[in-house]
Amino acid sequence: MSKLIWPRTLVTDRLGITYPLIQAPMAGAAANPELVTAVANAGGLGSLGAGYLSPDALRASIRAIRAQTKRPFAVNLFAPESPTSDPAAIARMAARLRPYRAAVGLPPDVPAPQSYAEDFADQIAVVLDEGVPIFSFVFGIPPRDMLERFKERGVTLIGTATTVREAQQLADADVDLIVAQGSEAGGHRATFLGPAESALIGTIALVPQIVDRVSVPVIAAGGIMDGRGVVAALALGAAGVQMGTAFLTRAESGAPAAQKEAILRGGDDSTTLIRGISGKWARGIPNQLSQALATPADDILPYPIQHALTREIRRAASQQGRQEYLALWSGQAGHLAGTAGAAQLIAEVDQQVRALLASAAMD
Ligand SMILES: Cc1cc2nc3c(=O)[nH]c(=O)nc-3n(C[C@H](O)[C@H](O)[C@H](O)COP(=O)(O)O)c2cc1C
Repeated sequence: MSKLIWPRTLVTDRLGITYPLIQAPMAGAAANPELVTAVANAGGLGSLGAGYLSPDALRASIRAIRAQTKRPFAVNLFAPESPTSDPAAIARMAARLRPYRAAVGLPPDVPAPQSYAEDFADQIAVVLDEGVPIFSFVFGIPPRDMLERFKERGVTLIGTATTVREAQQLADADVDLIVAQGSEAGGHRATFLGPAESALIGTIALVPQIVDRVSVPVIAAGGIMDGRGVVAALALGAAGVQMGTAFLTRAESGAPAAQKEAILRGGDDSTTLIRGISGKWARGIPNQLSQALATPADDILPYPIQHALTREIRRAASQQGRQEYLALWSGQAGHLAGTAGAAQLIAEVDQQVRALLASAAMD
C-alpha cells in the first residue's frame, strides 16, 4: 500500500480525471446532468445513467452536461435484452397492479406501451454522434460491431461484471476498464451470465479474484461510502471505485426526496434483494410495492416488461412523495451517506484516504 501515490492510478490516467472516484451511473432521476457535472468539476468521473432515456432526452442531457463542464464524463446504457412474455401473463400482472395504481390516483389499466425499453441502437447512435468520451455499460456486452464503432472513435469502454467469468468475457471483448460489482451494491445486479442469485459475491471477495484473472484495470463497486472503503478497494488491487448510494443522497442528485430519506434513516440491515418491481434482481429497501409483488414469484415478468408495467406507479409515487410505492434502491451501507454536495463528498474522501495512507505508512 505504501507504494500508492494517491490520487494517481491507472483509472485516473486512463480517464483523464483527478481522483479515481466514479459516481455510479444511476438510471432514473438520481444521476442527472447536475450530479454528473458536480462530480466532474470536483475531479471525479460523473456518469449519466441513461438506460431509460429516449434518444432525444439523452442528447439533451449530454448537451446539458457539456454546457456545465469541460471535464470528461461517461454515459451508461443497458446492453439490450429481449425477453418475451405471453399476453395472458402480462394481463395477470396488470390486474395485480390495479390497487397500487388506484392508490396513487392512476386509472386502472396500464396503457399498452409501444415498446418496453428504449431502442439501444438509437441510444448508441446519439452517444457516438455527441462524441461522448467514455461509454459504460451493464447487463451484458453490446454486439462486437457496436463496440468497434466506439473503439474506432477512441471512446473509452467500461463494462460491468459480478463474477470472474463475466470479467473475463469483458476482457475478451477488449473493454478498457471493468467495474467489479459486489453484492453490497445498490440498484440492479449487473449479472449477465447465469442467474443473479448465484452471483452474489461480496466486494471484498470479488475484487481480488477479478484482479488476479484479468489484465484490465478493475474498479470496485458495492458498499463503498468513504475513504475507508476506497483504501480497502485499492488494497484489494482495484485501481478505482464506483460509488452509487454515496452520491444518490447528495444535494445535486435528482433522486426522490422520499428515497433519500429512506436511505439516510436506514441501517445496516435495511436492504434486501427485490425482483417484483422491475423483473430483475436489485438491492433496495423493501416497501409495500416490493413486498406485494414478491410472491408468487412465477407471476413476475422478465425485465424490462415488469419494469415498464410498474413505471407509472413509481413515477406518481415520486411526485407524491410516497415511499411505499417507489423503487428504493440502496446499497448496504446507505446509512453512511450524507446530504452535502457531491464536491464535498469527493473532498472528504480525498482527505480520509490521505490520512489513512499516511497512518499506514508510519506503522
Ligand atoms: C439508484 C441506483 C441506480 C443504479 N443504476 C445503474 C445504472 O443505470 N447503470 C449501472 O451500471 N449501474 C447502476 N447502479 C449500480 C451502480 O453502478 C453500482 O454498482 C452501485 O451503486 C454500487 O454500490 P453502492 O450503491 O453501495 O455504492 C445503480 C445503483 C443505484 C443505487
